[in-house]
Parts: sequence; C-alpha cells; structure tokens
Amino acid sequence: MPRRDPSARARGLLLALSLVALPGCGAEPGSPSVDAAPRDSLGAEQPLAFADSAPPSDAGVPGDGGPLADAQRRDGAKPPAKDGPPPASYSFVVFGDNQFATASCTSGIPERLAIPKEVLKLAPTMILHVGDLMDHGQDAGAYAAFEGCYSAMLAKHPFFPTLGNHDALGVSNYKAYVEKQILTSNAKVWGSGYKAAFNVVYNDDSTAYSTSFSKPTLTNIVPSGVSFKTFYAFRHENAYFLSFESGTRWWTNTPKTWVEKHLKAARADPTIEHIFVILHHPFYATTMVETTNDGSTDAVEPVRKHYEALFQKYDVTMVFAGHVHLYEHFYVPDDGTTTRQIPGPKSYPHDGKGIHYIITGGGGGPLPGCSPLPGERKEKSYSYTQARGCGYHVTRVQVKGKQVTVSVVGVKGSATSYAASTWDSFTLN
Ligand SMILES: [Fe+2]
Repeated sequence: MPRRDPSARARGLLLALSLVALPGCGAEPGSPSVDAAPRDSLGAEQPLAFADSAPPSDAGVPGDGGPLADAQRRDGAKPPAKDGPPPASYSFVVFGDNQFATASCTSGIPERLAIPKEVLKLAPTMILHVGDLMDHGQDAGAYAAFEGCYSAMLAKHPFFPTLGNHDALGVSNYKAYVEKQILTSNAKVWGSGYKAAFNVVYNDDSTAYSTSFSKPTLTNIVPSGVSFKTFYAFRHENAYFLSFESGTRWWTNTPKTWVEKHLKAARADPTIEHIFVILHHPFYATTMVETTNDGSTDAVEPVRKHYEALFQKYDVTMVFAGHVHLYEHFYVPDDGTTTRQIPGPKSYPHDGKGIHYIITGGGGGPLPGCSPLPGERKEKSYSYTQARGCGYHVTRVQVKGKQVTVSVVGVKGSATSYAASTWDSFTLN
C-alpha cells in the first residue's frame, strides 16, 4: 500500500531522471597501502562540551520559504507561479560513523542504539548516512548485522547511505548492501510511490573504471584512478541529492564527470531549490591537516581540490560529511572571504554565493575526547568555522520551500534512557 502519494511537483519532475537497472556486485578491490588502517578511532567517550537550548520542535520551519526574486537566483530559474502548489515541506536526518561491530550493536557505547531512537522521535521523511556504517565492512554478514541493529528505524523511513573507509574495507559487501537499500528496501518501506517520490539514479555511468589500486586509470576523471560505482543521486520534492564514493583521500572514487552531469541536471531544473551532497571524507575539518607533502596523513585539501569548484559553479547548498567524530559547521563563500564566527549567525542568505559544510560524525563511534573540545588547527578550515560540538548526535534538516533549517541534536544515554538537547541551529533564508 502506498504510504504517500508523490506531490504534483514530484510527478512533474519524473521526466528529468530515469531509474537504471541493477548491475552485479563489483569485484573485491585491492587496498591502497596508505589506507591499511582506519584513521578515525580517536579515543574514549567524554561528556558533551557544547550543549544548550531546548530540544527540537516538530513545529514547521519558521517563516515563509517563498521564492527569491529573479535577480537573486544565479541559475536564472523562474520562481514558482503565485498560484502554484504550496512550498515543499519535509525533513531529513543526517548522521554517520556509528561503526557497528558485526557481533555487537553497542560494543560498550550505549548511544549507538539511542541514536536510532532519537531519529524515530524526530520522524523525518528520510535518513541520510555519511559513512562508516560498520566497523569491519569486510566481515561476512556485516550489513545484515547493520540492518538488524537498526531494524526499527529502517522499517519506518527510507535510508540513503554513503561509503566510508570502514565500509570500503569490504566494498563488495557494501555495494551489494547499498543497491538493495536504495532500490529495494526503501521501496518496501515507502510503498509503491517510492520511485516517483525519490527518483533514484544508480549505475548510470557506463565508463569502465579500474577496481584495482595497483592499476589506476582515468585519473583525470576519477581522482584515485579507481571506482566501484557505489555513488548515486536522487531527488525529493525541491531538492537534489548526491551520494559520493569517497572513503578517504586515497579512496576519492567519485568521477568528476558524473558529479558535473548531475549538478548540471539539478541546476537545469527550475523546481530544484537545494542541492545536498553526502560524502564521508570531509572537505573542511579543523582536526585534520589541510595538506601534506609526504602522502602519509589524512588531509582535507587533497580531496576538496577535485570537487569544490564544481560545487561552487552549480551552487551546491550543503555538504554533509563524517569520518571525524565531531560536529563542525563551516560556511565557505565562493569568493573565499573569511567567515569565522563562533557562534555563527542564526540566519544565512540562501543566495548560491557560499556553501555550508557540515561534519556530523557522532553516530556512535569512539569520541576524540570532548572535555575540552579537541584543539583546532589554525589552517584554512579554521577561517570558516561557525560551530563545533563533541558528543553523540544527529543533524536534522527541515525544508520548507526555499528555506532550510538545520538543528543539531545531542544524544546522551542508552536506548532505554537518554537525554536529547539541541546544540546548534541555523536557517538559510
Ligand atoms: Fe571514517
């Protein structure tokens, strides 16, 4: 039975994208020697060091997300007609790095199972995950274990994952899982209107990429020279979503041609008001080095340099990452102007002239030590920081037309008894 009918808006957009048939699973890759071990087991859990204000409200996003004037829209799109459908209104939750052990859903960290309880309470339209679903993605049955640990949450809401470096340790396992999740499992959860409501595009890149890190090819297109094609795109209502394959700087496996194809399609569609990207390895992080000359350190610039110009050209709205087990918010104007301000403003212009980068890696993996907050490296990321927080958390995004409101919800305790508090919130108007 269909749970929801697609809106008139979604129905009108079905012509823009097409669903592509499933491929077989990719071959197990060789591993790059520099990525032999995951790099984000950062230490023991500590108390929250960044908490305030009231719990999130399920009341709608404040204000009116009405269309911007033509002069404010860099893509030249026309605003919706005054007598058109009401603004799209929905929400999604983003989190990552829960890093379940295949044999245990908590491994001594009770928040790992409090997180899905809070997600259910927030009742989002869908859930996005920024990678590292499993600690050992290479284990037999790893993703069946993931589905078991999150069964109640996954039974209620469509779930859209992205590959993390722990998942990349067993990329054929992950690939089989992601195909099933986005094409089959979500359709069962949503109902018969799933294809119309989300229009998932998967395996639409026919290029033959290498799956061996010892034989990289096409490095002008795919930075690592390798891709297992786990990336995909989907749209919901007035937003376009891209999920990358970027586990670490050495697994920068998302083809730039594929990224540009989808960003261009999104911007060519006058009903798309937001572009959201999910990927694992962040482009900005104050606890990671900016760059390195010896190739041995997990740095942000070596990944960012391949995609940031495309994100700016096509006015990506917001980029969600994990890998670092913190919350960080960066606002990076296209012109490079420094924006550092903690706390940042409560409202930002949604004018296509800057991109919000959010790290939301507090889904359950070991914390880096939160009291005090981990120190900030005073490199490029430092100049754009708007907020930082440490502890287990999820990020909620509420969309009402052109307006986007982000709330970061901290979770402390177990599935049977936990406290939630809003650490940070801001709105794009
Ligand atoms: Fe990671």
